[in-house]
Amino acid sequence: MELIRLAHQTDFDGWRTAARTLRSAGVPPERAVWTVGEGQGDLWAGNAPPRPLDGPAPPFNVPRDFIELAQEVVCHRAEDRWSLLYSLLWRLMGEPQLLKIVTDPEVARALELRRNVVKAVHKMHAFVRFRRVAGAAGETYVAWFRPEHLIVEGATPFFARRFAAMRWSILGPDRSAYWDGRRLLFGPGVPRSAAPPPDDLEALWRTYYAHIFNPARMKLAAMRAEMPKQYWGNLPEASLIPDLIAGAGARTEAMVAAPATVPPKRALKVMQAANRDAPHEGGFIASSTEEVAAAIQGCRRCELWRNATQGVAGAGPRDARMMIVGEQPGDVEDLKGEPFVGPAGQLLDRALAEAGVDRTQAYVTNAVKHFKFEPRGKRRLHKTPDTGEIRACRWWLEQETRLVKPNLIVALGGTAASSVFGRTVAITRERGRELPVSGGGRGFVTFHPSYLLRLPDEAAKAAAFQTFVADLRTAGELASALA
Ligand code: URA
Repeated sequence: MELIRLAHQTDFDGWRTAARTLRSAGVPPERAVWTVGEGQGDLWAGNAPPRPLDGPAPPFNVPRDFIELAQEVVCHRAEDRWSLLYSLLWRLMGEPQLLKIVTDPEVARALELRRNVVKAVHKMHAFVRFRRVAGAAGETYVAWFRPEHLIVEGATPFFARRFAAMRWSILGPDRSAYWDGRRLLFGPGVPRSAAPPPDDLEALWRTYYAHIFNPARMKLAAMRAEMPKQYWGNLPEASLIPDLIAGAGARTEAMVAAPATVPPKRALKVMQAANRDAPHEGGFIASSTEEVAAAIQGCRRCELWRNATQGVAGAGPRDARMMIVGEQPGDVEDLKGEPFVGPAGQLLDRALAEAGVDRTQAYVTNAVKHFKFEPRGKRRLHKTPDTGEIRACRWWLEQETRLVKPNLIVALGGTAASSVFGRTVAITRERGRELPVSGGGRGFVTFHPSYLLRLPDEAAKAAAFQTFVADLRTAGELASALA
């Protein structure tokens, strides 16, 4: 038996070094025992490393997608992760296509661990709540959060980008992260008692949450799935939830019975300005993407606002090189108020990741900002927006384009393409290359992820996905190369 002692819980480099040595010494997976000895850094636990085989080791290139998978899997808390990865690595030598066999029990297990890790990252992004702390060094923000997996290093750069101007710490039992306004630093875990007590920001947040909670749209199962109870301890709004749920029925009836409210005068003015086109008529010219997002809530340029929960503006950095344009928010996006966060968004994320394009560096938006649907029982079925709705909403897309000034606009599917290029675009014929945008700028068109989701045949779906990934890779290169 070979005993390998990794330095810490996510010691991918140690695992890689040991796995290489074991492989070239011909040590099969069942003869390797993996442990983690906090901080000891003694890979072979005081023993001599296994000797390489006599003669040349069999040539073997580790596929890149395995390395990427392994880097995520090591962040899982599962104790079998190290031996699972070594077993996969061992088998890849003789079965180079192994990772494509998703029904293989070991591949399936690794993919499941990766899914759990990715989910834990999303949960951390959604459920960290900072508390304001005033100290000698000025104002800082502190949160305590126990992620489901060992993801602090991977998940916290998101907060550094989103809260770049604040100084903050996220404390947790495994690791803690600290952002000083310039650098993201990591330290050991701390107990929950190290987090500061509730403050006035939390009271403000609770008031806000109680106001935005819409009893008529309450979906208990979705709430439980999206906001599992284990995170409630973190969330200031959690204490409100039982009462809000209990009172939802009565509030819905009251809302239905109440007469329509009249918006305050100032809000009316902004709404009217937002609905006029030309600046010389007093039309609304946004000076930031945040302003666009706020003004979209008052948009009455077509009728779609009537049935949607809210307008969904674009999201992403103001200086993004690439702007990705979809069709319209779907059911999930309509409820969450963010573009591409439902099933099509997950497919888009997967394709972008495979193409090596960082979604957080792109500005992601839609041609139409309100969800168009047809109620069918309890479900809301997507309906394609018509030409008038696309034309009316182009006003917002143009404002976003003017502010972001992307090097490349990537239209996903026909609706987005007709808005971006001002004409009907034949996706199969024109996809995958640079196209001029009317009125200046460079564009690009590829499939919409929902098109891939709808393909009935698995083989066709896999082939189209690879084309989609290749297109996004080309788009990423164009966006970086174009000045
Ligand atoms: N489909 C889109 O086109 N956009 C979204 O935001 C979600 C699904």
